[in-house]
Amino acid sequence: DAIDDELDLGSVVPPQRRTSKLGIVGAGAVGSTMAYAALMRGAARTVALLDVNKQKVEAEVLDLSHGIQFMSMAEVVGSDDVSVLADCDIVVFTAGAKQRPGQSRLDLAEATISLVRNVLPGIVEVAPNATYVMVTNPVDVVTYAALQISGLPPQQLFGSGTVLDSSRLRYLIARHTGVAVQNVHAYVAGEHGDSELPLWSSASIGSVPLLEWDGIGENGPLTREVRDAMAREVVESAYRIIEGKGATNYAIALAGSRIIEAVLKDEKRILPVSSLLTDYLGISDVCLSVPTIVGSRGVAERLAVPMSSDELTGLRRSAEAVRSVARRFGF
Ligand code: 2OP
Repeated sequence: DAIDDELDLGSVVPPQRRTSKLGIVGAGAVGSTMAYAALMRGAARTVALLDVNKQKVEAEVLDLSHGIQFMSMAEVVGSDDVSVLADCDIVVFTAGAKQRPGQSRLDLAEATISLVRNVLPGIVEVAPNATYVMVTNPVDVVTYAALQISGLPPQQLFGSGTVLDSSRLRYLIARHTGVAVQNVHAYVAGEHGDSELPLWSSASIGSVPLLEWDGIGENGPLTREVRDAMAREVVESAYRIIEGKGATNYAIALAGSRIIEAVLKDEKRILPVSSLLTDYLGISDVCLSVPTIVGSRGVAERLAVPMSSDELTGLRRSAEAVRSVARRFGF
C-alpha cells in the first residue's frame, strides 16, 4: 500500500539535478568570445550556439570543445537549427549587422530589427522560459523592438546596455586615481551609444564620493575637465577599437558573462542593463540603461539613483534619442 511504497528505499532514484543551459545566437566575434568567456568562468554547464553559417558554428563548437579539459565541466553544442536552443535558461542575442568604421550603432537599426523579426519568435517557441539578453546594436532600440516582436514580459527580456560602458569608465577612473577598478563604483546610464552619460554625482571610490576625491600622488581630483575627457573617451572607445580591429569582442564578452552569471546564479547584482522603463524619473516607454537589480527573474528593480539636474536632463535627452530611432522603425 501507499505507506509501504514510500518506505521502500529500493525505489528511490537520485534526483535529477538541474543544470544550466546558455544559448548564444550568433557565432561571430561577440558570440563566440562570449561562449569562451562564459565557459572560462564556469557560468553554465551547457553552452549552445546558433548561427546561420553551419560550417562556422560547427568549427567554433569544435574549437571550444577541445579546450574543455582546461575548464570546469561543460558541454558545447551548436547548429544552424534553432532546436539547439531548446529549453535554454538564458539566451543571449549577439547576431546582427556589423558596425563598419565611422558608422554609429543607430545606423544598424534597420538590419538588426529585421533579423530579430525573422529569428526571435522561433527561438522563444523552443525556449519560452529563458531570460533573454539582447546584445546586438543599437541595443536599446533592438531591445524595445524585441519586446514588441516576442510579446515577452519586460522582466524576461532586456539588453546588455551600458554594462560595458560602465566598465570602460571604471577602468579610466581606476587608472587616474590609482585605485583598483573593483573599488570604483560608477555607472554610465542612458543609451549604449553616443548620448550616454556617466552618473558622476552618485559615483564613489571606496566609500569616498567621487566628486570629493582629492587625489593621491601625482593625479589630482577628478575635475570637470578630467571627467568630461573620460566621458568622451568612453563614447569614443568603441569607434577606436572598430577602426583598429574591425569589432569589439573581449570586454563585451566578459560584460555579457557577468550578466549571464547574475541571472543563472540569481545574484541580484546591480547592473546598468537596458530595460523597459515605466515612469523612471518621469521616463517611460523606452528601453534604456539605469542601475538595475538583475537575478534569476531577469530585471527586478531599477534603483532610484539620486541625480543632478544635468544628469537628469542628459538621461531624458538620451531617452529621446533612442525613442526617435525606435519610432522611425514603427516601434
Ligand atoms: C561596443 O561598445 C560596439 O557596442 C559595441 O563595444
